[in-house]
Amino acid sequence: MRSSNGTGGAGERSEEVIVFPDREEMGREAAAAFARWASEAVRGGGRFAAALSGGATPRPLYRSLAGSPFREAIPWKGVHLFWGDERCVPPDHPDSNYRMAYETWISKVPIPLENVHRMRGKDDPKAAADEYEEQLRAFFGSAGWPAFDLILLGVGVDGHTASLFPGSSVLNQQRRWVAAPFVEKLKTHRLTLTLPVINNARRVLFLAAGEEKANIMKTILTTDPAEAPLPAQLIRPRHGRRLFFLDQFAAAWMNRKRGDDR
Ligand code: 6PG
Repeated sequence: MRSSNGTGGAGERSEEVIVFPDREEMGREAAAAFARWASEAVRGGGRFAAALSGGATPRPLYRSLAGSPFREAIPWKGVHLFWGDERCVPPDHPDSNYRMAYETWISKVPIPLENVHRMRGKDDPKAAADEYEEQLRAFFGSAGWPAFDLILLGVGVDGHTASLFPGSSVLNQQRRWVAAPFVEKLKTHRLTLTLPVINNARRVLFLAAGEEKANIMKTILTTDPAEAPLPAQLIRPRHGRRLFFLDQFAAAWMNRKRGDDR
């Protein structure tokens, strides 16, 4: 089931919410979209820059990208992978967003290792944020905000996205591309892209699944954020598209799921 408004570029809508029967189909469809966007970008401009999200929700997407037909169809030599956020742990740590993506997907496809741009989570957080910002400037240049072709995002039940948590001062960061906020509720630092970077992406794709996300998704998509916007409500690509892929459980409040109108 789709709902959308506005139109972006050539027929692409500026905002779209698509609901799937389950997270596996959501993952397969997200993989098909990733493959389409990557092929278009590499054909048109020689490269595709995507920032990955962490957590558990993207696992079905990453598994799909590691298998047929996407493993064979995607022009991996032109694909560059970055992260939207990372935990401050080594790359082989169970909590590492890099480790989950690497084990589930990246290690299984012929992407050149120099195209995989990891956040150095085990380093001092501030130094790691500075280092990652240098990596981004080396790739995108410094003429303006970096323009990712795609930024994948998840949503926490508190409305956080990437590692932008409610009440964090990083939400006001308008100069840095990468920050290392201390997350009070987690009692730890995180590395994260900042809002101006995320809002400069050509496409932002939120993935949310499970009934535990239904309330927060309803709030994000149906309440006016004017008073106290949640971090996920601050994601408003200036020129790009904002897409939501939900499974029927995270979209329960919409009382319909994809396939009802078949
Ligand atoms: C992280 C993420 C974070 C995540 C949400 C949802 O590093 O944890 O980037 O923003 O996307 O917390 O996590 P789940 O997909 O596990 O529900």
